[in-house]
Amino acid sequence: MPVTLVVGCQWGDEGKAKIIDYLARGADYVVRFQGGANAGHTVVADGERFAFHLVPSGILYPHVVCILGGGMVIDPIALAEEIETIVERGIDVDRRVFVSEQAHVVFPYHVEMDRGSETRLGASAIGSTGKGITPAYVDKVGRRGVRMGDLVRPRAELVELFSEKIRENNKHLRRLGVRPLSVKKTVETLLGAMKTIQPLITDTRIIVWSGLEDRKKILCEGAQGALLDVDHGTYPYVTSSSATVGGAVAGAGVPPSSIESVIGIFKAYCTRVGNGPFPTEERGKLGEKLREVGGEYGTTTGRPRRCGWFDGVAGRTVVKLNGITEIALTKLDVLDSFERIKVCGAYRCGSRRYQYFPTTVRALERCKPEYETLDGWNEKVNSDGRMELPPTAVAYVTHLEELVGCKIRLISLGPDRRAVIERA
Ligand code: IMP
Repeated sequence: MPVTLVVGCQWGDEGKAKIIDYLARGADYVVRFQGGANAGHTVVADGERFAFHLVPSGILYPHVVCILGGGMVIDPIALAEEIETIVERGIDVDRRVFVSEQAHVVFPYHVEMDRGSETRLGASAIGSTGKGITPAYVDKVGRRGVRMGDLVRPRAELVELFSEKIRENNKHLRRLGVRPLSVKKTVETLLGAMKTIQPLITDTRIIVWSGLEDRKKILCEGAQGALLDVDHGTYPYVTSSSATVGGAVAGAGVPPSSIESVIGIFKAYCTRVGNGPFPTEERGKLGEKLREVGGEYGTTTGRPRRCGWFDGVAGRTVVKLNGITEIALTKLDVLDSFERIKVCGAYRCGSRRYQYFPTTVRALERCKPEYETLDGWNEKVNSDGRMELPPTAVAYVTHLEELVGCKIRLISLGPDRRAVIERA
């Protein structure tokens, strides 16, 4: 059973890329299973910073084959740019990056629709990344989407397909009050991207299945996080895909029986970008400090992230939901200079006490976190590569394990790929 799933357990930005990069050393394949260019995955390797949006984070290891799975929605222009940048930086992608024929295409009109509808929503906007994710998934479930496999056809047919789609969707853009796209220019830009990406498109199910037969190690990489999952997150303040384990099975094409472990990534505190409830948010000085020390600004949009304390109610729920077998805790070093650290163990709503995350935003908005305050450690846990956890930091980690009911096996203490402690 050679498949390991890696899922974000909060509202995204948990540091999944760093952990995927760490685990990818021992992997043969990394398969991204959902989302699109809304994700921003940052890896620091040998002092060099890489930010990926679509390509799986395993790309920095020459032996790893990277697959963009069928559950994804892919902007071909963004993917071509990302691949070209990767190649310019000396990374070989030949026979190493494959795109599923089943993944859906994010067209420029999806991007315009996303931004247009967010503007229309005004104060009740979701706060999307503006990358066209929701309109592309809407076309997918509405059975009018275009899949990556549809792009493997002669140029003349592509011109016809793109022109027709742009014309048809320009009508929707006009209805939204958004300026329609130039058919000629948009078709040209799309055709330009085809040269780079057409050779990568294939039936990735076969690659995954033959990997399983050969008992190769397969890592499935999720984007966003469980609390942004379209079914289990803070609906409607969610992304439009399944960021939990179910999404991995469908989106990577791995059978559930092949899954050996599910690694949940938690940050040592919580952040969220975009709108929607966030019970443990710190709106004052402490939140600002978390943001500044943690560098909590979006990789994709540059937006400041909302920051707050570790939420054990959400954590406990997400561990159960995904059957998390072990946890990787990231950015513990960000808490180095906090004298007191708060942790939420339950929510209170009038006379009701919640141990698990409520399913409706209405209920969640009325919940007040019950905090326990723990002593901080007030020293560097990573001092020039000498990584040691003082007893107070160990107590914090143990407390989180008890709250969510799962062992923390990996602890990341900084952006560098070596800054990881493995625990027995
Ligand atoms: P969308 O996925 O762009 O439609 O955005 C929907 C919600 O998910 C917004 O609140 C975004 O800020 C959030 N979101 C989407 N992708 C990410 C991510 O990679 N990290 C954190 N939040 C994200």
